[in-house]
Amino acid sequence: MKDIITLGIESSCDETSVAVVKNGREILSNVINSQIKIHEQYGGVVPEIASRNHVEAISEVTKEALKQANITFDDIDHIACTYGPGLVGALLVGVSYAKALSYTLGKPLVATNHIEGHIAANYITHKDLEPPFLCLIISGGHTHLVHIKNYKEFEILGKTRDDAIGEAFDKVARVVGLGYPGGPKIDKLAKEGEANIQLPKTHFENLDFSFSGIKTAIINLHHKNPDVNKADLCASFEKTVTEVLLENTLKAAKELNINKIALAGGVSANSYIREKFLELEKTHNMKIYYPEPILCTDNAAMIACAGYYNFINGKTSDLYLNAIPNLKLGE
Ligand SMILES: Nc1ncnc2c1ncn2[C@@H]1O[C@H](COP(=O)(O)OP(=O)(O)OP(=O)(O)O)[C@@H](O)[C@H]1O
Ligand SMILES: [Mg+2]
Repeated sequence: MKDIITLGIESSCDETSVAVVKNGREILSNVINSQIKIHEQYGGVVPEIASRNHVEAISEVTKEALKQANITFDDIDHIACTYGPGLVGALLVGVSYAKALSYTLGKPLVATNHIEGHIAANYITHKDLEPPFLCLIISGGHTHLVHIKNYKEFEILGKTRDDAIGEAFDKVARVVGLGYPGGPKIDKLAKEGEANIQLPKTHFENLDFSFSGIKTAIINLHHKNPDVNKADLCASFEKTVTEVLLENTLKAAKELNINKIALAGGVSANSYIREKFLELEKTHNMKIYYPEPILCTDNAAMIACAGYYNFINGKTSDLYLNAIPNLKLGE
């Protein structure tokens, strides 16, 4: 069978990324131009600045991706771009660029959901992974517990009712003075602390999550006692949120009788969360999957992979494609 080459384009937030992927799962190149250094000084992503930087970077990033993959535009079979969810101005850069390429090269355009991309990152790292499985998507904008029924069918079993978990990591980091982006900084500092501070956990009847209570508790605690040990606070925060993630995931696994669990999204790079989920392999006879760290945060290889499955299932788009900032999983 002829190889299928996908050009993936990602621009939903502050990473301009273009990748070349063979047959959905083999990365030939994955160029990521991060704007973190630019947004760091503002303590978070400034949407307008993100859009402008995507415009400046996208052509060069694409050239570099083709060069690293040692191919030309002629070798591409289709173009997959993120069309949501994300920042509208940022998304529009990738969508418009992908439409222009599709039109001039005469190659099919494949609209791809960013969250499906995060899930698909697991297919690249684990060549043997096939649905069905449970996926816990823990990112800057989402906390979703999802039943991946097949490559195109998803059932959301639970989701956050307020803050996404990545947002909570970033806010807690800001409060204790670690700066942006907070997740990796909390990950590092927590290793030096003890999880000895009692923090609130929120539970619901169903499999939903809530992280605003713990975030507020930490803000109040730090306000009342600015000398609180920051490493202990980070360790306690990580331990408490991980317990909630584990409890809901195990409940879903039991209800659906599934023993394959994948983690996805930026927060799945967290070393404590990975360690605790990995323990389930021994304690609960589960099989745990997570993408390699570079594929956890935003990148175009995961978009190419998800786009490949859209393409082989006949899901292509026309040039009326628009960015959908609040696109839901499965849409
Ligand atoms: N090691 C880590 N530990 C905890 N959180 C982390 C770590 N590395 C990255 N993060 C967090 O991951 C988030 C970014 O992830 P990602 O790029 O998947 O989110 P996003 O693209 O902004 O949101 P979404 O994908 O939901 O639209 C940030 O909140 C960041 O702090
Ligand atoms: Mg993301």
